[in-house]
Amino acid sequence: MCGIVAYIGDELAGPILFDTLKRLEYRGYDSAGVAIKSDEKIEVFKSVGRIADLEKVYTGLGCPGDCMGIGHTRWATHGKPSDKNAHPHTSGEIAIVHNGIIENYLDLRDLLMEMGYEFLSETDSEVLAHLIHFYYKGDLFEAVCKALERVEGSYAIAVLAASSPYLVCARKDSPLVLGKGENAIYVASDVPALLPYTKDVIRMRDGEISRVYADRVEMMDLAGMPQPIQMERITWDADAAERGGYPHFMLKEIHEQPRAIRETVAGRISEIDGDVRLDLGMSDEELEALERVVIIACGTSYHAGLLAKYLFARAAGLPVDVEVASEFQQLQVRPRTLLLGITQSGETADTLLALKKAKTCGLPSLAITNVVGSTVTELVGSTIYTRCGPEIGVAATKTFTAQLVALILLSIRLGRARGHLTPDQARKMLIELTRLPGLVQRVLEKRETLREIAETYAGAGCYFFIGRDYLYPISLEGALKMKEIAYIPSEGYAGGELKHGPLALITEKTPVVALATCGKKIQSNIKEVRARGADVIALATEGDPDIGKVASVVIELPETRPVFSAVLATVAVQLMAYYTANKLGLPIDKPRNLAKCVTVE
Ligand code: M6R
Repeated sequence: MCGIVAYIGDELAGPILFDTLKRLEYRGYDSAGVAIKSDEKIEVFKSVGRIADLEKVYTGLGCPGDCMGIGHTRWATHGKPSDKNAHPHTSGEIAIVHNGIIENYLDLRDLLMEMGYEFLSETDSEVLAHLIHFYYKGDLFEAVCKALERVEGSYAIAVLAASSPYLVCARKDSPLVLGKGENAIYVASDVPALLPYTKDVIRMRDGEISRVYADRVEMMDLAGMPQPIQMERITWDADAAERGGYPHFMLKEIHEQPRAIRETVAGRISEIDGDVRLDLGMSDEELEALERVVIIACGTSYHAGLLAKYLFARAAGLPVDVEVASEFQQLQVRPRTLLLGITQSGETADTLLALKKAKTCGLPSLAITNVVGSTVTELVGSTIYTRCGPEIGVAATKTFTAQLVALILLSIRLGRARGHLTPDQARKMLIELTRLPGLVQRVLEKRETLREIAETYAGAGCYFFIGRDYLYPISLEGALKMKEIAYIPSEGYAGGELKHGPLALITEKTPVVALATCGKKIQSNIKEVRARGADVIALATEGDPDIGKVASVVIELPETRPVFSAVLATVAVQLMAYYTANKLGLPIDKPRNLAKCVTVE
């Protein structure tokens, strides 16, 4: 996904822009560029490929006045990856970087072409440069406001003019953060890019536009009305956004799961009351009156939603519909429905759009997200935050297990409010929940065994993951991880469904990972695939007396309640996918064609 950076201050802009752009690489990109103000002129450098390629074309301006600039990593949406389509886009003395989609760009383009503007790229963003140029009569802020009034769609932008002493930034439906340094302001699409420079940040809100000087920010709405500025102190240190000694962010983040789970639970449980403290913005009476939950999510977050289907039915007596956000049509309006959006980034366009659509029915709504102040939090009534710190690897790991934990907490709260769980039943679940980080740690300690198995099967042409009950969503997640980072075609299947078709794919060349900690039925599915020659790697509960008789290899996971064993199995399949991709020498943190946060439909 595109990333934006900008800088204004006392130091040379170029090196700071490159450094902050590199810190946004995890969002995925195909080209990059910077525009730097130098001697009342704008110098632009662009390149397809990595930031390192861009650095090669940067001639190093190095004049004392080069202290203001903007930069961009582009993930192609309109127009293929090319130097021309890379940002910044310019028009006369104006340069802009943009993340988002200008929906009415074709109309605007026609209009601007009639006025004599020449378009050099195929992007929707270039219209913004020309439109701002058209309105620019010496006041950049005013010109940007006027241009944005004409624009339909989403944007986070940073704008530079050769004759303007300040930068202009604006956002609508696309994230943008300003960081305050010592006589310097740093701008980025995401906080981790800013952490080496400052921990004091301002998250711009939708509809805000700012005049950015080195020593101050003036925040306004598009009508020019001053807006309050909320400075936030980031408590993660720069190290939290670095690899911390691991070869990949993904491995680091897999190992951070005990802490992420502990922090997601922290302060939210009362063992004495046998209840959970969550601010859901709804009374117990309202929770009791609920008749169903509709969950909207994508990718890994969707798998978390699928687990909630089992969980909420059992813990709270609530039926759940789980919708893939991009396929969401229109909610059948049924009162007493709770809408729940799950999105680690809080910025996934498909999820946001589906939630917006569903929300028109006026239903109570909740979100589970990892990013404080992200767009989803503005859409819903209340938010449950997972507390994982930033997740940099494109593959979701710690944010997924933390989502599962947040859903467990929510199910207990719903169960208690609805009288479906007694305090004692809830207490037992909560006690087990507090053991979970330690159990996850024990799975992490099996990494060497998991590595050896993964490396043995790294040459497989196809993988299967099978599970039942709570482990069915985890089989989907295991297959997604294997596809996403190891590029091995993989299927996640409900064990019982194999015989309805996919069994035809099973041969002695198809390793099958059987998630076998929930019940004995999976053993007949293991026998089915073994009979077709497949090797079966079973993830089973410690001391299971039967599994060794049917599986080829057994990895023992600590004994716990079935729903918690889904978390343990997740960690094991994450490690298997990681070590497979590592053996194959693949770019684990930035798999091809993928972006960390997908902010386009
Ligand atoms: O930020 P979100 O949770 O909304 O992201 C949804 C998916 O794009 C995301 O889970 C994706 O599937 C991950 N890369 C999977 O590892």
